[in-house]
Amino acid sequence: MSKLKVAVLISGRGSNLQALIDAAADPAYPAEIVSVVSNVPGVMGLERAGKAGLATATINHRDFAGREPFEAALTDHLRAVGAELVCLAGFMRLLTDGFVSAWHDRLLNIHPSLLPAFKGLDVQQRAIDAGVRFSGCTVHYVRPAMDSGPIIVQAAVPILAADTADTLAARILEQEHRIYPLAVRLFAEGRLTIVDERVVVADARPSGDALVNPA
Ligand code: GRF
Repeated sequence: MSKLKVAVLISGRGSNLQALIDAAADPAYPAEIVSVVSNVPGVMGLERAGKAGLATATINHRDFAGREPFEAALTDHLRAVGAELVCLAGFMRLLTDGFVSAWHDRLLNIHPSLLPAFKGLDVQQRAIDAGVRFSGCTVHYVRPAMDSGPIIVQAAVPILAADTADTLAARILEQEHRIYPLAVRLFAEGRLTIVDERVVVADARPSGDALVNPA
């Protein structure tokens, strides 16, 4: 069976990219990474891709006169590699409505909070400051408004009294590395349907009991 062709867009460390690389190393995984694109030269994610023997491209937004020409180059590349799904994984550029519409229902993002709470940046500190007992991460389809769009998978983690933004980020990141490969698998298996901007997952296995924090 032919695998879903995925392009991954990064700007830095690339630990979520690594999780996707590791998942795709399983011959039974239904998706393959056809290109890793960074808008920032020399980042660690590009190294990870190189080590895995993947094709990479650097499309530096600074080389372009504005968002539209940058995105036109990006689109040309994504078409050339035959991408069927585009995964944002720590990609730190806002995309125009035009780009997002062109990839409607074929563009995913991962965000380190339980959306729609805590969109934007500095989310771990903001969750701690708000005193919420849980945070987590979300994989969602991308819509024009930042960090919005139909939710595919979420993972929740407790926030502990001693947490700093860094310790919370690390706890959340571990779950990011589980749910991004899961979301891409569900997409590739054709199990996702969007109904009224909500995702229906075919044959979904519900998660277990409720979590209470503090226990
Ligand atoms: C992750 O926390 C992701 O949720 C956010 O940016 C970070 C990227 O980390 N969008 P990495 O580059 O995948 O390690």
